[in-house]
Amino acid sequence: MSYHFLCLLFLSIVTNVLGGDLSMIRIHGKPGIFKTSETLDVSWQNCMENCWADINCSVVYMTSDIQCQYFRFGTISTIQHADSREDQIALKIQISGNQCPISNPLVPGPTYYIQIINGQFYKTTMAQSSLSNNIFNLTYSVSTCPNNTKLFQRGETTVVCIGLYFFEDPLCNNQAEASALCNAQNGTLTGPANADEYEYIQDISNSSKYTSNPDSYTWLTYWIDGVGTNTLKVYTFEDPTHDGSTNYVWTEGSPNLEGTHICVYNPGPHDKYVQVYPCIDTVLDKAVCWRGALCQVPPIIEIF
Ligand SMILES: *[C@@H]1O[C@H](CO)[C@@H](O)[C@H](O)[C@H]1NC(C)=O
Ligand SMILES: *[C@@H]1O[C@H](CO)[C@@H](O)[C@H](O)[C@H]1NC(C)=O
Ligand SMILES: *[C@@H]1O[C@H](CO)[C@@H](O)[C@H](O)[C@H]1NC(C)=O
Ligand SMILES: *[C@@H]1O[C@H](CO)[C@@H](O)[C@H](O)[C@H]1NC(C)=O
Ligand SMILES: *[C@@H]1O[C@H](CO)[C@@H](O)[C@H](O)[C@H]1NC(C)=O
Repeated sequence: MSYHFLCLLFLSIVTNVLGGDLSMIRIHGKPGIFKTSETLDVSWQNCMENCWADINCSVVYMTSDIQCQYFRFGTISTIQHADSREDQIALKIQISGNQCPISNPLVPGPTYYIQIINGQFYKTTMAQSSLSNNIFNLTYSVSTCPNNTKLFQRGETTVVCIGLYFFEDPLCNNQAEASALCNAQNGTLTGPANADEYEYIQDISNSSKYTSNPDSYTWLTYWIDGVGTNTLKVYTFEDPTHDGSTNYVWTEGSPNLEGTHICVYNPGPHDKYVQVYPCIDTVLDKAVCWRGALCQVPPIIEIF
């Protein structure tokens, strides 16, 4: 079944942080199941524009020429397709390109709408209901990272929380213990998946030297994801989501060791970049301490 939909795009005014274009898609339909809504006394056009500009608005419904029903994030869970031209509803979606898709963008779906607000990841998923072709389900989730980790998006809908985790006793330890430290948080060792992550990782590694260095080592270093193989520069990884060593910035002359007993760490002594060293090492005199692990741990996901 196909049906006509109208599409309004407000592009070039706002581009969302993730590069996708924010649009309101107007279709013939009406609200189904919802918890709460508000009434706005504005024209339909203004109502759609208000929703588009409000990060917390998901859906609007035309109740008259001068009034609309306004649904915030998490409040409306189904939309019912209607044949009547009188019933107009507009949903916020994210589409690429600056024109309306030629077929209904909500079918077959799912279609996502994603926002990062104050370090939290808000996701709206729209999908055709299994009950009927004429019903769209909207589901909402908010992902929040544990304290002392930062949220990063990897791929369309994957988010990870990245942070340094420190050894407790002894304060300096080997790569297997680093991996265990991440596993204890239901995570894995990780590495940078892009330049933003790399910058964050360098920042937290650097500042830890001033905050987590009771024995005053010259360098604090951290195991990151990567165990050597018998081929130079080829590693096995615990975390498949950071694109291997693509975004690792190596110390000049590194990596210069191979073998399955070699592991990757960050930042190297003598500079701020990635190096390799035997996995079983924990300290190098008073100069270097492998102080912990760079982990990716799962966000806490709240579903509406
Ligand atoms: C969005 O609106 C909901 C429902 O009114 C509210 O609970 C929530 O705090 C709002 N979120 C933001 C980011 O403003
Ligand atoms: C849509 O929601 C209905 C009612 O909550 C549910 O029974 C159905 O399985 C959902 N369909 C999809 C595709 O999620
Ligand atoms: C996270 O930090 C906040 C503010 O410091 C604190 O109120 C909260 O209890 C912490 N949460 C956890 C799970 O430690
Ligand atoms: C790890 O996952 C298990 C099972 O889902 C859960 O019970 C436990 O609380 C999680 N641990 C942490 C630190 O999140
Ligand atoms: C590392 O942190 C110190 C103290 O905050 C700061 O002075 C220094 O510029 C930082 N170095 C780098 C390379 O970020």
